[in-house]
Amino acid sequence: MISLNKITKVYNDKAVVNNFSLEVDRGEMCVLIGPSGCGKTTTLRMINRMIEPTSGEIFIDSRDVKKIKPDLLRRSIGYAIQMVGLFPHMTVAANIAVVPQLLRWEKKKIKNRIDELLILVGLSPAEYSSKYPYQLSGGEAQRIGVARALAANPPILLMDEPFGAVDPLTRTKLQTQFLNIQKELHKTIILITHDLDEAIRMADRIAIMKDGELVQYDTPENILSRPYNQFVYKFVGTDRALKRLSRINISKFIKSAPSVDEDFSMDKVNQACEKCRWVWVTDSKHRLIGWIDRKILSQTTSIKEALVPVSLDEIAVTEGASLKEVLSIMLSSGLRTIPVTDKKGFLIGEIDMSIIERISAESINHYEKS
Ligand SMILES: Nc1ncnc2c1ncn2[C@@H]1O[C@H](COP(=O)(O)OP(=O)(O)OP(=O)(O)O)[C@@H](O)[C@H]1O
Ligand SMILES: [Mg+2]
Repeated sequence: MISLNKITKVYNDKAVVNNFSLEVDRGEMCVLIGPSGCGKTTTLRMINRMIEPTSGEIFIDSRDVKKIKPDLLRRSIGYAIQMVGLFPHMTVAANIAVVPQLLRWEKKKIKNRIDELLILVGLSPAEYSSKYPYQLSGGEAQRIGVARALAANPPILLMDEPFGAVDPLTRTKLQTQFLNIQKELHKTIILITHDLDEAIRMADRIAIMKDGELVQYDTPENILSRPYNQFVYKFVGTDRALKRLSRINISKFIKSAPSVDEDFSMDKVNQACEKCRWVWVTDSKHRLIGWIDRKILSQTTSIKEALVPVSLDEIAVTEGASLKEVLSIMLSSGLRTIPVTDKKGFLIGEIDMSIIERISAESINHYEKS
């Protein structure tokens, strides 16, 4: 879909992008990452011809971008940047409408598109359409930036640190929301970030750059488990094993969980506890409400007395979670085994820390051997 072939950009006799080649497939999210000044923004801007390369070729769907008029090209490529670049004197609606207006869409179609996009990025059209950029929080402005980039439904999105200027919590939320949007829209995306965790979480493939050159282009899993050289190894850092956990879904590792119903007799609970140190307790609808430790059973006469109630938010994960989320819950709750529930709190199973120990050890061994 997007193909960069030996691209070089020279400024003042210095190649800031040097012999750089990259292929991004249709529907794929490629994340460009590397030290400040390594040439990420320059590379991105050559794709929509905001900057012309000194040499090399760029193809979109096998068409040489040099042969497409820059303004036409830019209408088919959404572009979002860190400081968002919203026009300050225009409302949110007018900002989103810029490209559709250039394309001379009908008024009604534009209005519908604005509403649709605001809903897509999680903002109420009634409340936000007529606001001005200075009336938005950083995270809201960033979401409007994404909505604007998507306005004319371009097949390609170029994003230069789109979630860069917000606090970590808002950032995670924006990432999740954007991943959900991407699941639906399947755009071909090149996204620049400084944040390796963001790259690992979002990317289908990560391109690591250094001094204008491509050092490694690979899946997050391979970047973490098989760093190509010392530079990548150091860039990824010593907690590679932990970072890798955020790419691994828990579904394969869920074991069945011993549980009792809160209406069970103490005999039945004692029986259930014979084989395990503790059991989970569910209500009549099989929703998780707590656990019982075997040690406490002899001192209690009813389930109610023995029950340690739980707050699902604090100790349970849902099926879509990653092993990284599991680990952070284990660390904050002090439990080596935590329950897995569905969104409504129904107990599905449990997951044990031994899985995480095994997988971390595997990824560490892998690098030491290779
Ligand atoms: N118009 C220009 N004239 C001269 N040098 C430039 C120009 N634009 C960029 N550079 C230089 O090219 C190099 C690459 O810049 P670029 O903006 O692509 O880096 P980057 O990887 O996006 O960095 P950052 O992570 O800080 O955004 C830098 O050393 C920069 O100083
Ligand atoms: Mg940059």
